[in-house]
Amino acid sequence: MPACAAPVPPTHPSVSRTLGSLNADGYTPDPVGAGKSRLLPMDTSVYESPYSDPEELKDKKLFLKRDHLMIDEVELGAGNFGCVKKGVYKMRKKQIDVAIKVLKSNNEKTVKDEMMKEAQIMHQLDNPYIVRMIGVCEAESLMLVMEMASGGPLNRFLASKKDEITTSNIVELMHQVSMGMKYLEEKNFVHRDLAARNVLLVNQHYAKISDFGLSKALGADDSYYKARTAGKWPLKWYAPECILFHKFSSKSDVWSYGVTMWEAFSFGQKPYKKMKGPEVISFIEQGKRMDCPQECPAEMYSLMQQCWTYRWEERPGFVAVENIIRSYYYSIAAKPENGPDTGDKAKAALP
Ligand SMILES: Nc1ncnc2c1ncn2[C@@H]1O[C@H](COP(=O)(O)OP(=O)(O)O)[C@@H](O)[C@H]1O
Ligand SMILES: [Mg+2]
Repeated sequence: MPACAAPVPPTHPSVSRTLGSLNADGYTPDPVGAGKSRLLPMDTSVYESPYSDPEELKDKKLFLKRDHLMIDEVELGAGNFGCVKKGVYKMRKKQIDVAIKVLKSNNEKTVKDEMMKEAQIMHQLDNPYIVRMIGVCEAESLMLVMEMASGGPLNRFLASKKDEITTSNIVELMHQVSMGMKYLEEKNFVHRDLAARNVLLVNQHYAKISDFGLSKALGADDSYYKARTAGKWPLKWYAPECILFHKFSSKSDVWSYGVTMWEAFSFGQKPYKKMKGPEVISFIEQGKRMDCPQECPAEMYSLMQQCWTYRWEERPGFVAVENIIRSYYYSIAAKPENGPDTGDKAKAALP
């Protein structure tokens, strides 16, 4: 049996009975916003926490009961830690679609500790633009149970939908990411791995920040986290002070946000082409920055450049970043030729 094989059959009779009709992919259909041209984040089931219902909150615990969790065979993703599977979690009044991070090996304590640290961070967060954790489950292996974002990573989505996605759609999604990051900044958490691969989509118009594997909660009086040793770091996304002094703050997350913006407006291309980490460092030290992506509006490239301000003291924070991208989004969304209705390039090009 493979390490991540599920002992429970995927089609649990109680699931289809309670949920009624399921889509062909096995998920509950999205609710349709009455009279609206398209689904808004608040019309989806993952805008509010599943525990926002006081009845459901009564049962909220960090550790979940294994018999309330149904694990499907379908793999949503994989990594060094193991794999991410889809599933269904049974709550008091409802059943919700979930993504389950399943650890590969149960023996290694350090791997388990790392997943528990990730869980402790996620446990403290509740925002519509951040993937929520439902809880952890310790059974055949240690599992982190999260809200489902079935659209998958932003970089892959944009690379596969290059001809259909408008600029205004990308601005909309990056604005949502800035709102999630503003929340993190306010709560004094640093993400440390913000990248397009860690922005997951609920649908084409709804993004959530995920992967809190490197994240830290800052102390009440601290404005940064100091890493004692360098680890396996995503250097192309890191600000100079992270690499030079191991200092991580919301300001260094802003730098990563700029790189994430570049990835998004490049439709999921890899940043700094074929350069290696150390080459990127000297490129930045020379005052150079990545070029404006082909279809990126000047206003958005200007924001990226602000995010790449060398000195963190002079770099904007997420309050300013969110303000700038919101103003720009509203200015283009107000124009009928840009949407925000369908976000469909083909339609936008019609007379
Ligand atoms: N909540 C989720 N909903 C849907 N897919 C997810 C979810 N969380 C993770 N995944 C899938 O699993 C992959 C790996 O998850 P991630 O948390 O980024 O782990 P890693 O630390 O290995 O990068 C993601 O790229 C995505 O494809
Ligand atoms: Mg990841």
